[in-house]
Amino acid sequence: MSEAANHDSRGTRFLSRNDEMHLQQTKVKSRAGIEPILNAIPAARQGDARHYGVHPYFTRRPGNVVRAYIERYSREGDVVLDPFGGTGVTAIEAMLLGRRAVHNDLNPFANFIARTIADTTLPSTFPLREAFERVEEACRGPLREIEADEAAAKKCLEGTPLPENIRLPRDSDAEHFFDLFTPQQLAGLALLKQAIDREPDGSVRDALLLAWSASIAKLNKTFLSAKGRAASRGGSSIFSIYRYKLASQWVELPIWETFQGRFANVLAAKKEVLQCRLFRERRSNGPRTLDSRRDFLVLSHDAATIDRILEPNSVDYIFTDPPYGGFITYLDLSVLWNHWLGFPISEEAREQETIVGGERNHTEQHYKESLAKSIRSSIRLLRPDRWLSIVFQHWDLSYFSTILETACEQGAQLKAAITQTGDVIWSMHKKKNSASVLAGEMIITFYKPRLARAPQAPGGDVAVREPSAVLSEVFDICLENGVDGFTSEALFNRLVIELWHRRALGCLALDRREFVSHLERRGWTYNPRTHLWSRVDKKTGKSGEPMLFRQ
Ligand SMILES: C[S@@+](CC[C@H](N)C(=O)[O-])C[C@H]1O[C@@H](n2cnc3c(N)ncnc32)[C@H](O)[C@@H]1O
Repeated sequence: MSEAANHDSRGTRFLSRNDEMHLQQTKVKSRAGIEPILNAIPAARQGDARHYGVHPYFTRRPGNVVRAYIERYSREGDVVLDPFGGTGVTAIEAMLLGRRAVHNDLNPFANFIARTIADTTLPSTFPLREAFERVEEACRGPLREIEADEAAAKKCLEGTPLPENIRLPRDSDAEHFFDLFTPQQLAGLALLKQAIDREPDGSVRDALLLAWSASIAKLNKTFLSAKGRAASRGGSSIFSIYRYKLASQWVELPIWETFQGRFANVLAAKKEVLQCRLFRERRSNGPRTLDSRRDFLVLSHDAATIDRILEPNSVDYIFTDPPYGGFITYLDLSVLWNHWLGFPISEEAREQETIVGGERNHTEQHYKESLAKSIRSSIRLLRPDRWLSIVFQHWDLSYFSTILETACEQGAQLKAAITQTGDVIWSMHKKKNSASVLAGEMIITFYKPRLARAPQAPGGDVAVREPSAVLSEVFDICLENGVDGFTSEALFNRLVIELWHRRALGCLALDRREFVSHLERRGWTYNPRTHLWSRVDKKTGKSGEPMLFRQ
């Protein structure tokens, strides 16, 4: 595996290379007056080839939403950081918008996806297409033989390099790595990888490996075809139920055609990124050219201590989407890829992961401490007079309390909280379930003032009162003067912010059943088709979600 040229752990050097004009600009104009984004932005998930379809990952924010936030809260030449970067949506969009991007994630597999998509160093897609033809020449015939005959597959396995047959996470259906594949799948993938590994150019090799790595998601026994659609349409349980669950009847998709399809997606992504580079080069008075070696820094560090390797007060905007409690155990679930791609996961990284549960049995306390530390270190990295957006969703009010309390204790001011619902992923989850599923997310935006003031505590005096009375009162407040219909997510998020303003967030718990019963008791009914709550006797004529934010 090549180390891409831009994989650099010397964050400090990257950040201290300021360009003069940018420094001048940022010194002059205060950013306190930036109008915060106060409305949801409809997600356009299918739009960007560079993010969707290239490679599955557990969660991914819609590119157009992230783009809108970066454009609003930062300027060209700025340093934009995502400490929980995942597959790099924030950093890739930041780089394409002329910012200097810092992408950080503990998961090397996520960093590989981000770095490979972001790589602008190929002169064109031509070398990539040529390399693909070489792989086809070497593999297509042997793959046909392997697929026709299990004995041929087993023979091929004897002479092709394979990773070690390690143990899988405890809750997997299969005990060992090789149990995830049929002999044909294992041999076919090994054969393709061997041919790709022979490619001499690091950028070309990584792009092919990205297509290969995306093929693994379809060529293993956790892949389940979607009912009523072509066999190749569907997904792996690893990304849907977040577990290595073997399909009761696994399908054997054609290996070459699967790889070819993934390669077409990588090629489309690469074209998009290279076109952005060309476009910038051709803009006569355009500011900066696009070069991932200079503008895309990849770090693989614990977000909780990232301020140890980047300079404090050196980042201009942070947009980040931390793990949501115990939903997804990223490092455990990525073992299939990290292991075969040859990315070791240290015990230290496992210890540092910001999750609840997993192989390490991380506690709630570990999660909250890690989340709080990462927010603290992010705010330390942010220059004064700059903005920070955190994406979050969970039923546990105390997690929101951790985020809001830590940010405000660090002197950041809460400026906006927006409910984002309604994209493809959201409706998929919702179809299966109902009122009590929170499938959207809240984007919480803070401003770090120039002068550090005493920590901004929320107003209100309710902390001393009976929590259930406060909750009931807050439900009433959120529902009065509302609109004719609203989603569970919008109301829940509004409750979070109201409770925060009343200093009651940290001392309350609210479970899904209680949430639903509060609404039903007040005469609201849930429509599982529209996912909206409404009341027959209450027609205000106002449409849309309840206003979430009040300053
Ligand atoms: C919700 S995902 C981010 C997804 C990303 N916004 C995207 O659009 O692709 C959270 C990420 O945090 C990473 N992570 C978990 N704990 C971490 C830690 N302590 N430091 C850095 N990254 C961590 C996980 O590997 C995962 O990729």
